[in-house]
Amino acid sequence: MAKQKVVLAYSGGLDTSVAIPWIKERYDAEVITLTAELGQGRDLEEVRQKALATGAEKAIVLDGQDAFVERFVWPALRAGAIYEAQYPLATALARPLIAEYMANVAIEEGAEFVAHGCTGKGNDQVRFDVSVGALAPDLRVIAPAREWGMSRDEEIEYAAAHNVPVPNTKASPYSVDENLWGRSIEAGVLEDPWQEPPEDIYAWTRSVDDAPAAPLYLEIGFEQGVPVSINGETLGGKALVLHLNALAGEHGVGRIDHLENRLVGIKSREIYEAPAGVVLHAAHRSLETLTLGKEQVRFKDIVAQQYADIVYNGLWFTKHREDLDAYVDSTQQFVSGTVRVRLHKGTCAVVGRQSPHALYDYALSTYDEADQFDHQASVGFIKVFGLPVRTQARRQAR
Ligand code: ARG
Repeated sequence: MAKQKVVLAYSGGLDTSVAIPWIKERYDAEVITLTAELGQGRDLEEVRQKALATGAEKAIVLDGQDAFVERFVWPALRAGAIYEAQYPLATALARPLIAEYMANVAIEEGAEFVAHGCTGKGNDQVRFDVSVGALAPDLRVIAPAREWGMSRDEEIEYAAAHNVPVPNTKASPYSVDENLWGRSIEAGVLEDPWQEPPEDIYAWTRSVDDAPAAPLYLEIGFEQGVPVSINGETLGGKALVLHLNALAGEHGVGRIDHLENRLVGIKSREIYEAPAGVVLHAAHRSLETLTLGKEQVRFKDIVAQQYADIVYNGLWFTKHREDLDAYVDSTQQFVSGTVRVRLHKGTCAVVGRQSPHALYDYALSTYDEADQFDHQASVGFIKVFGLPVRTQARRQAR
């Protein structure tokens, strides 16, 4: 009888590498690794070779960068989805796409199992398990690191005994996850929330001290809520995010220190670097203040929070998210225009915004002689607006 097949989401790190021989032994199965290129800054051909050298039957790399930006990052940006007002959700947004690839490859390869390297106390296990379940409810999910109960030292021993190449550089004390939309850093000294993050955890952003003394001004163009240009130059999604990560990171913009509430009930301290995410969310929101009506802005705030929770909690592949997308899509019809931002010493300030669909009307706002607002009309308006206040004051005044 042919062996079982397991499609393992593979990063090339210690956990997913040890998972290869572990799954083969424990499940008497063949392992097919799947690595998604999402801009994690690693040579994925090397990762693929490592998977094969570690005992994978087949090692697949899929370039998901454009799909990630177009199908996950832009919808979240248009929705204004920032978890607990701080985290632009880089890690969380990538998981459903990886799960989709896992499910697709499993179906193509005739595998009954998929596997991932998440532990039993994080959010990512939930995102993978729930997303795979939404796409292919009959696939079974194996999570070796949730099952094996090995300490890091035991893992290294296991790796040595099973010919798993372990990098002989001193392992970083941090756990890092990285893609185009951001970098997530946790563990080590960061586990003490009183400790200021050491400078060596940052890779994308300069410190305020090292950032240039002169500010950088950028003009970001949006079409229906999607950023499409920087300083007049039209850029595709991936190129725009990469370019902005470099520019804003240079000015120290995008560092986030978040004490967050995990889905599994734990509070955890995570540092994020998301230069493009911070700038684009600020710019997008500012353009909305110019082009959306008051009730739209306020209601959309509520939707943004819901949307962020959906993403964070691994509920991307749900009708509820699709329903919210329909609402968000409708709100973005006139969110087109240009936003001017000033990047300086770790700050990103919106300093200008314009749109052909602006609801801002100079003739109504101005205090100079161009004023066309009917001041006299306010008298009747206030009379009616204040009517219930006066009535209550008369009937119930002490
Ligand atoms: N806390 C973030 C989330 O749940 C990031 C998780 C991965 N972080 C990491 N450093 N490996 O989305």
